[in-house]
Amino acid sequence: MKRIAVLTSGGDAPGMNAAIRAVSRTCDFNEKECLGVTRGYEGLIDGDFIPLNRAAVGGILHKGGTMLKTARSSRFKTEEGVQEAKQQMQAAGIEGLVVVGGDGSFRGAKELHDVGVPTIGVPATIDNDIAGTDETIGFDTAVNTALEAVRRLRDTASSHDRLFIVEVMGRNAGFLPLEVAVATGAEYVVVPELPLSIGNLCHKLRISHENKKSHTLIILAEGVMTANEMKDKLQDTGGYDARVTVLGHIQRGGSPTSFDSVLASRMGAYAAESLFVGKSGVMVGNVSGRMTLSDLERAWLEQKTLSPELLGLIEKLN
Ligand code: F6P
Repeated sequence: MKRIAVLTSGGDAPGMNAAIRAVSRTCDFNEKECLGVTRGYEGLIDGDFIPLNRAAVGGILHKGGTMLKTARSSRFKTEEGVQEAKQQMQAAGIEGLVVVGGDGSFRGAKELHDVGVPTIGVPATIDNDIAGTDETIGFDTAVNTALEAVRRLRDTASSHDRLFIVEVMGRNAGFLPLEVAVATGAEYVVVPELPLSIGNLCHKLRISHENKKSHTLIILAEGVMTANEMKDKLQDTGGYDARVTVLGHIQRGGSPTSFDSVLASRMGAYAAESLFVGKSGVMVGNVSGRMTLSDLERAWLEQKTLSPELLGLIEKLN
């Protein structure tokens, strides 16, 4: 293998640039050539490749977003799209591909693997909802961004004896809300994985208020309902005056934390090296601190589960 490429796809995540840099610099270290594909699978179909030598990835390690841009491609979901992408890669002499993204991106990576293009996935999404890795790139940064925001909300909630409903990202998964809830000492977390009883929640709020708890925080996963919907549903807030905050895409931006910078550097380097030794159809994982490879299909076939220990802490500590 002389030349490989890297692309970022799906929702961006802090640390994607660190992964791109690691792929490029690992190529350079091994005297191989690296190209970047712009706009994910869209750029692959259009043959939008840029040289990614050592200098081209200088100064991006600490930057949020992705220098290669990202997209969700509907064209790549067709057989013609996949064939077109394969032809573009062949024409450019690209012998392998690193796909940095979430489960949707990995489905595309599997398609390429199945038509004979060596492809390896690097998990990057703030949702952390990919089986086969303890953490995805971007999760830690998003948790810390939300943590800072919720700490500020706690200050004002406490001054005014208020209830705050904070809507955080995580389409179908509660990893981000749960981590944020434990880290901020939130009284309640509402996640898609667990049933919600509004009646029970109202009952608990009443008890909190009766016990003179000055303020209350509910961390709500966006996939369950919007914070405004929840406010409307909470007919009885037990006496608290309720306010709503939606953190939104703020959680997707910003410089990666040291954890994400290191994770992305390790994963990007491991993905490139794995391609060089003939691996394909697999994703890189960080399992108990070690770099691993597992089948791409795990990303969408296996449900990663929330930590019962963390869920228990919400109940016990708040
Ligand atoms: O998958 C990452 C994610 O940030 C989810 O948490 C969120 O629901 C979704 O992307 C938002 O997507 P978009 O940027 O297309 O609005």
